[in-house]
Amino acid sequence: MEWILWGIAFVILILIGYWQLVIAEGAHLGPRVVTLLYDWTAHRYDRVKSFDEAEEARFLGHPLAAALSDWDEPWVLDVATGTGRLPQALLHQPEFAGQVFGLDLSAKMLRVADQHLKSHQSQASLLLASATQLPFANQQFEAVTCLEALEFFADARQTLQEMVRVLQPGGWLLITNRVGWEARLMPGHTWTRAQLVSILRGLPLTDISVRPWQSYYDLAWARKRDLEMGNKKMWGAIL
Ligand SMILES: C[S@@+](CC[C@H](N)C(=O)[O-])C[C@H]1O[C@@H](n2cnc3c(N)ncnc32)[C@H](O)[C@@H]1O
Repeated sequence: MEWILWGIAFVILILIGYWQLVIAEGAHLGPRVVTLLYDWTAHRYDRVKSFDEAEEARFLGHPLAAALSDWDEPWVLDVATGTGRLPQALLHQPEFAGQVFGLDLSAKMLRVADQHLKSHQSQASLLLASATQLPFANQQFEAVTCLEALEFFADARQTLQEMVRVLQPGGWLLITNRVGWEARLMPGHTWTRAQLVSILRGLPLTDISVRPWQSYYDLAWARKRDLEMGNKKMWGAIL
């Protein structure tokens, strides 16, 4: 009888381990565990994801380059860049003449990103830093992006505020929100579509749009409110 109880306890332990380490990818266990898991799996990340270049251009590179066409040499910050997926998609767009900064906590993911971005060295920089305290002054970037990573941050709402802080007025925010069945297995780390919209509305953002994207993610666009422009418009209306 006793060995059956031990067997049940063992199976429960394996299931909890699978849930926390494989499905939730360490999200409930803190940034050190998340980073460790990404360091371990960095060499096979691209193979597992098998990104399609045309799809990446269609949903990320092309629309972002188009959104940034008002600026000559825009600066883009990709938070939790991983193996440099967003920088690659953007730098493949011939009309993009700006700079991309990719930030991540996993040194091994950044090492793979560095290999991918070798041919765009003059336009790409990589930084080992945490998304929760971005090492940049206010309003430095014309766009801030964060794909497939919000769910790993200890306080995603605060990290979103941090992204908006470094975004210049009129600049673009492009993020993903995990919504598939796995999202329900990451309580406290994921939001429903309605919750995300409500959080974005609480920030100084406008032009908010959230659309289903890949199987497990929504893709959200928003623009930082340009208070100065708003004021000028208001004065114009009053005068
Ligand atoms: C699923 S990958 C996404 C990578 C890339 N954005 C993409 O779409 O392929 C999640 C990334 O978030 C990074 N990450 C997790 N927590 C982080 C934190 N607090 N600060 C910076 N990066 C973090 C991980 O190291 C990992 O590279």
